[in-house]
Amino acid sequence: MRVAVVGIRGMGKGHLRAAKRCSVVREVAGCDLNPEVRAKVGAELDVSTFASVDELFASFKPDALVVATAPNRHAEVIRAGFDRGLPVLTEKPICDRIEAARGLVEEAGRRNLPFQCCFQVRYSGLIRAVRSLLESGDLGTLTRIGLTQYSGSHAAPGYMSRERTGGIFYEKLCHQVDLFRLFFGEPERALAVAAPNALAHYGIEDNVTAVFAFPGGRQGVIAFDTRRAAQVDGVQTPGRDFEGREAGHFYELCFTGDRGTAVYDAWSGTVDVMRFNHRGDLKTEFVRRIDLTKEFGADMYDLLAQDGDFYAHVSEGRTPRYPASDALKSMEWSERAERSLASGGAWVNA
Ligand SMILES: NC(=O)c1ccc[n+]([C@@H]2O[C@H](COP(=O)([O-])OP(=O)(O)OC[C@H]3O[C@@H](n4cnc5c(N)ncnc54)[C@H](O)[C@@H]3O)[C@@H](O)[C@H]2O)c1
Repeated sequence: MRVAVVGIRGMGKGHLRAAKRCSVVREVAGCDLNPEVRAKVGAELDVSTFASVDELFASFKPDALVVATAPNRHAEVIRAGFDRGLPVLTEKPICDRIEAARGLVEEAGRRNLPFQCCFQVRYSGLIRAVRSLLESGDLGTLTRIGLTQYSGSHAAPGYMSRERTGGIFYEKLCHQVDLFRLFFGEPERALAVAAPNALAHYGIEDNVTAVFAFPGGRQGVIAFDTRRAAQVDGVQTPGRDFEGREAGHFYELCFTGDRGTAVYDAWSGTVDVMRFNHRGDLKTEFVRRIDLTKEFGADMYDLLAQDGDFYAHVSEGRTPRYPASDALKSMEWSERAERSLASGGAWVNA
């Protein structure tokens, strides 16, 4: 099949690379409004590039479209793809406004077009590792998933604006919301608060503490603070490592059950498994350290598994494994969390 990626500067470049490695994909092209991006990425990855979606459709005639523009440009490109009868894989968020996202999902349904939103974490080794720990009983019944992240991007001014992204849950934390839903199903309510912004070039919250409450007392919790980048550097210094230990950052995801906890460290790609007082001596013990890449494969940002799965489903005429109608629910909860943030931390119910 022929795959075209629209928006090829950042994530789009990763989608081009992934498409080139997929066996069902015969030809790949890129599209970007920016001539410098077209020239640079086209040469680097040896792909044809086009200056507009119209030009792309006229000359390349793709069988599937990947959308990796800024969130506020998703809807128009997705719609253009639907108008050509194309299956679409869009970067998260579906788009920057919930009403428009609902409209796009409805339209894909009406036209019977495969439509998926990139929550590639679902395909990661981490998820396989946690599932295997749940099967083996090491964690007992999963009751809490918690993110603690002190890191952040040296984003260009304007990149983190509300107009461009829709908000911090739309731009970043929808990944975690989707992860909570993957394990716990639908939340009952959500609450989110933020301290006043510290990063001058962020038009959206640069920190969030949030709780998503699920039936049975299960919880997804987020403690996220991008200001760590500024604390370390004093100023935002492009040229430093984007994220990671070298940049003074911290990223931990804990999957906790009644018998134990699995602690994922993003920078080392490991999961430490601990068991709580399951024996007579009531001690907590370290069980083992899992090397995710060695034991379970794909890291959280690897696009190959997800993109390959989408193309395989499309080429076989099947509905995507994770249709955008499901991702829409993660976006609905991201929207509720944005509303809670805007209200200063009120619970927002289903
Ligand atoms: N899945 C993930 O883990 C992950 C991580 C980072 C970003 N993202 C998402 O990926 C998307 C892109 O983010 P990015 O950081 O790569 O953005 P970016 O600004 O670096 O790149 C977007 C590119 O799209 C181009 N563009 C904009 N409108 C266009 C149009 N109508 N036609 C053709 N080209 C157009 C721009 O010129 C730009 O080069 C966003 O939705 C973002 O939220 C996802």
